[in-house]
Amino acid sequence: MKKLMLLAVSLMVFTLSGAGKSRALVLYYSWSDGGNTRQVASMIAGKIGGSCEMIVPVKSYSRKYAEVLKRGRMELKQKESCPIKPLKNDLKKYGVIFVGTPIWFGTYAPPVRTFLQKNEFKGKKVYFFCTHGKGGPGTFFTDAAKLVPGAVVGKGFNCYGIHVKKIAPQVEAWLKKDVK
Ligand SMILES: Cc1cc2nc3c(=O)[nH]c(=O)nc-3n(C[C@H](O)[C@H](O)[C@H](O)COP(=O)(O)O)c2cc1C
Repeated sequence: MKKLMLLAVSLMVFTLSGAGKSRALVLYYSWSDGGNTRQVASMIAGKIGGSCEMIVPVKSYSRKYAEVLKRGRMELKQKESCPIKPLKNDLKKYGVIFVGTPIWFGTYAPPVRTFLQKNEFKGKKVYFFCTHGKGGPGTFFTDAAKLVPGAVVGKGFNCYGIHVKKIAPQVEAWLKKDVK
């Protein structure tokens, strides 16, 4: 009985978003102490029953806001600027990839750009998500889509970072409606 219930719950989680048809991996970068993007990433992974991993820069960013602004702005001006550590998960094993970032200067944070530039997404389904301040998602969704040629890019999700604590119902609604 217990086993049957467990199986039913796993099936519900797995089919909630349709991502159960192919293995799903949630990747994200997050910088602030509150970890807004990290929180959304774990919500997604929890709902779809997928793995979750942070994209880690080789050289971590300073905890000082002014320094991150300076380095972030400079890196975004350059083409390849923020080396990242190898992922623990093997991307080849996943057909569905969620990629999340905090919005920096109206687009992705540099570690997320490096991740998209350095990997192959052909034939995969990719969903982008982000958290932001008052400026909104900016050009992130279009900028990111350009870096995954050959992938099928689904409808993304974004939210104001300070709303992250109460965003779970919207994340769930997005997964149900737009993630196939
Ligand atoms: C370097 C830097 C640049 C930012 N640029 C923007 C921006 O252009 N527009 C915006 O709405 N928020 C901007 N923000 C705010 C973050 O996107 C927002 O607080 C986000 O939720 C933080 O996510 P995290 O907790 O995962 O780091 C910026 C934050 C930092 C540190």
